[in-house]
Amino acid sequence: MRIGITTSGGDCAGLNAAIYGVIKSAAKLSSSHKKKFEILGLRGGFDALYQEAPLEILDLQIIKGLVKEGGTILGTSNKGSPFRDPNTKDKMIAKMIMGAKNHRLDGVIVIGGEGSHGMAKHLLNHGLKFIGIGKTIDNDMMGNDKTIGFASAVETAVQAAERIVCTAKSHQRIMLLEVMGRDSGFLALESGLASEADFILLPEFPFVLENLGAYCKQLIAHQGFGLGVVSEGAKVLGGAQVFSKTGAVKEKLGGIGDQLALDLWTKFNVEARSVKLGHIQRGGSPIASDRILALQLGVRAIEAMLNPNTSDTLIACQNNQFVEIPYAEISFEQKRKLSATDALYLSAQKLGVFLG
Ligand code: F6P
Repeated sequence: MRIGITTSGGDCAGLNAAIYGVIKSAAKLSSSHKKKFEILGLRGGFDALYQEAPLEILDLQIIKGLVKEGGTILGTSNKGSPFRDPNTKDKMIAKMIMGAKNHRLDGVIVIGGEGSHGMAKHLLNHGLKFIGIGKTIDNDMMGNDKTIGFASAVETAVQAAERIVCTAKSHQRIMLLEVMGRDSGFLALESGLASEADFILLPEFPFVLENLGAYCKQLIAHQGFGLGVVSEGAKVLGGAQVFSKTGAVKEKLGGIGDQLALDLWTKFNVEARSVKLGHIQRGGSPIASDRILALQLGVRAIEAMLNPNTSDTLIACQNNQFVEIPYAEISFEQKRKLSATDALYLSAQKLGVFLG
């Protein structure tokens, strides 16, 4: 069986551990003569399918020491879907399917977020089997409550928050930590709770600036300092999300922390500074729980490839159990979001954290 493997979308910690899980478990099956596998790397995402250069054979030589490595040895891209233009979509699909056939692939393992699995969905029913593994530090994939990279990003954010709270205490000011997450607040909520943040601002629950200003004044008066974890997608009630110009074609979500620090100072006379954690959350070595999750998903992806009863499927994690969800049943256009009835959100409220 010739299986392509791709990492697609924003990188995160744990991608290489998933690749390791796929290659190692396939090699084990091959050596026990149960099934002969060849694992072939699609470099830089799906585009590798229609490139003429031979795909790289991934074998045991390549993966030694890989479980702990950040980034992805396959490279990746988050520039959007090659199928978004309706005028060229069908041509692109045909080109990729033809490419996969030329590479003699039987299936493709896609390690990606909702965008990448949405792309894979366009390529179904053409004789290639697709098995998906969820990764994203945003943890916003539908049907999947634990994605590769999330736990490591939370850990990194907690460490950063614990560093900046020292300055908050030393200087009697408000320190804000802006974390990623796009339109979902899971990363901000978990890292904020774990770092004992006084307030956590989430995209799903717009906040009232006057209430936050008054709360920060109180924090300085009674506690002497304050720590806030702010999701990049958070916004003032009735206002808009903040985007910043950066080295990309489009403006990127982010900058709310700096804007808020300025507002706290100019409108409420509260001294504040903001730190934007940015891509630090995506890099570095995965923490142990992400390694274990990724390894298991890699093993299960190979099992699912082998199982004739499993069709195109995402292997997801729900309530600490692995489940197979047929691609056809998932809408990758939708994102998982926090709701006011989520247990963690309710706990944060009960702990008295200011949530907007
Ligand atoms: O989806 C992952 C993510 O890191 C988001 O949290 C963030 O908004 C975005 O990707 C950043 O993308 P880029 O790497 O293109 O700046």
